[in-house]
Parts: sequence; structure tokens; C-alpha cells
Amino acid sequence: MAEQLAVNGGTPVRTTPFPGRQPYSERDEELVLEAIRSQNLFGKNGNFVPQLEEKFAQFMGSGYAQTCTSGTAAVHLALGAVNPDPGDEIITAPITDPGSVMPILQQNAVPIFADVDPITLNMTAESIEACITDRTRAIILVHLFGRPCDVDKVAEIAKRRGVTLIEDCAQAHATKYKGQYLGTFGDMGCFSFQQSKHMTTGDGGITITDDEATYWRLRLFADKGWDYRYMGERDHAFLAPNYRMNELTGAVAVAQLEKVRDVVERRIHLGRVLTERIADAPGITALPLSDDYEVSWWNYIFHITGHDPDEFAAALRAEGVSVGVRYIQDPIYMRGDFLVRKVTYGKTQCPFSCPATSREYEYGPELVPDAVKGLKTVAVMGLHEHMGEDDIVDMAAAICKVADGLSA
Ligand SMILES: Cc1ncc(COP(=O)(O)O)c(C=O)c1O
Repeated sequence: MAEQLAVNGGTPVRTTPFPGRQPYSERDEELVLEAIRSQNLFGKNGNFVPQLEEKFAQFMGSGYAQTCTSGTAAVHLALGAVNPDPGDEIITAPITDPGSVMPILQQNAVPIFADVDPITLNMTAESIEACITDRTRAIILVHLFGRPCDVDKVAEIAKRRGVTLIEDCAQAHATKYKGQYLGTFGDMGCFSFQQSKHMTTGDGGITITDDEATYWRLRLFADKGWDYRYMGERDHAFLAPNYRMNELTGAVAVAQLEKVRDVVERRIHLGRVLTERIADAPGITALPLSDDYEVSWWNYIFHITGHDPDEFAAALRAEGVSVGVRYIQDPIYMRGDFLVRKVTYGKTQCPFSCPATSREYEYGPELVPDAVKGLKTVAVMGLHEHMGEDDIVDMAAAICKVADGLSA
């Protein structure tokens, strides 16, 4: 007989709080203090920001890295390097943060949403290829929740169709696909250092590339088209924002880079333990694992396929385990007026109203049916490197108990 659920008066699986994540340590403190004591916090001619750019590129096995102020800025830098014409199309993910979408509009280009696998929630190669038109300039491939997309297939498509591939690795730091780090398969890789990320400075970002000409566009785009070593004292190469990182952020990022792979390896391990323990729970679909790639679990996800997701989540919370359902609820373009109602620049609706735009664009749920389907069943749980295996065992026990209890 199934054990009585806590939601029905039974004893909860977990009665003590789970450990919180503590991403900063003495090493971060030491380097921040060193930055302050240097009496210069301007990154461009500082110590830590150039050091970070060099070390990050080296760590990734990439030629160049350009720092900036956020993951959104990192994607914007990449699009600044692509330099699309107004009305050109950029393919991106329907399940992501607005940081993978808004920079497209900021360059007056048109976001096109490729559909996803309803279980992994990652964009599929087939859906991406079907979105390519003669106006497509780039693909922003989002590796969601620390899980690699089929990046080699997508890289082949991008190459064959003459389209730039930008990998959005904001949720997938230091994560390997077939032995190689995500972010190095495409023309550019973008990372966020926001507080919740594997490697964090509170806010911050970086974009990598192997191509020198692309690097110079990234570098100039991050600072008003200005690099005095390149352009001369007061010259500005082209229209660009200021996304400069400062030394305090750079110092923390250098400390974080030293340990990011340990953080990721711990998450890979904990995620595997949890996945194995819930694999046979009734009405649950765990995500696949493989020896071909790593999953670094920015957060842990699974699907509630055979129960009501809200009822399941309420029962799980009663067991003392925190969970969210449906992640962003709807495709990202429905979570604001910027695409559904095309509220962009003043009253203009640019780029959709621009003469350069070649056709009508409509954004609704029918665009990406598998994304809509996947969002209905997905459950999201916090999983991080400061959890113990006993915490994971409790999470798994609670999931299995609720799955059994609701199936009885
Ligand atoms: C996939 C993805 N892309 C881009 C971003 C934007 O990063 P930031 O919040 O640092 O601007 C995020 C942030 O959560 C993200 O998850």
C-alpha cells in the first residue's frame, strides 16, 4: 500500500530546510580586495578584466573572449558582430529568458522561434532548419537547463546554409558535448554570470569566438565602437552601446572561473543520482542521460506526465521539497507585449513596420506546439553543488512517494 502523503496528513519526507547555495568564498573576497587596493576599477586598462578574458578563452579552448555586463549583453554583442540589416531574421528559442530574444529586436531584426523537443525543451535541429529563409542571418542556439542541444547537427546546418551560429550558454557553463565545451561549436558562444548561474558575479557576461575579425567587432561593440589601441584616441568605429565590465566584477569572475568545473562536475553527479532514483516513478518522465554529453543542471527538471502537475507540486511541497511547475508558463514571446502586440520603438512597431521587413509576422501558441506541450508538464527544482547526496535522496524519495500516492 502507498504511504500516506503529507498533503493528506502523513509524515513529510523532509522536515529540515535544504542547504542554501554559497557561491562566494574567501578567494572571491581576496581578489575583490586586491581590485579595490589597486585604486583602479576601470576594467579596460585594469588587471582582472583582461586577465579574465585571457583565462576564460584559454579554459574554453577558444581564441578570444570579450567581457560585458550580462548574458543579455553577451548575446547583443554577438548580434552586433553579425550586424544584420533591419528586417533580417534571427532564429532563437521559444523557451528561454528574454535575453535570447530582446537583443534581436534591439538590432531591428526579426526573431523567429524554432520548436523544441517536448521533453528536453531544447530546440531541435529539424525545427531550426525548417525556419531558415533567405533572410536568416543567425541562429541563437540555447542549451537549456545545462543540457546540450544536438549542437553538431545544428553546426552542420548553419555551415551548409551559410548562417552564423551563436550558442547561448547562459544556463550551460563548462559543460561538454562529445568531449568539447558548449560555446565552442558555433561562431560565437555567450555566457551569463548572473547570480543563479554556475559561475556568477551577481551580474556579468562574456562572449567567445575563434575568429579574429569577429572578436574585434565584439570588442568594439562592447564599448561604443571605441578601442583606443585599435581606433585611435577619440574615434568610434560604429553605432554601439557601452557594456564594459569593471574590475570588481572581473575579480570575482577570475575567482569563479577557478572553480566552475568543480561546480559543474558536482551538479552532473547529483543530477545523475536524482535521475536514476526517479526513473521508475509512475506518471513521471525523467530526462535522458548519455555518455555522449554532460548535463550540468542549471536547475533540475523532469516532467509530470501522468498526474495533474499542480496537484503533484502541492503534494511534493507538503513533503518538504520545493518545486515549480511550467517554468516560464508560455513561450517567451507571449510573456510581454514586445512581440504579441509588437510594442517596440515608440508607436512604430519597428522592425515589423519597416519597409525592410519582407513579410508579416504573427506570434501565437500555434507557432511552437511542442514548446507549449512541454511547458504544460515540466517541473523545475533547485539543484546545486552545496547539496549533499542525502538531500538528493530525500528529493527523490519525495517524488517517488507522491508519484506512488497519486497513482494508488
Ligand atoms: C538562456 C538564457 N539566455 C540569456 C540570459 C540572460 O542573461 P542575463 O540575465 O545575465 O542578462 C539568461 C538569463 O537567465 C538565460 O537563462
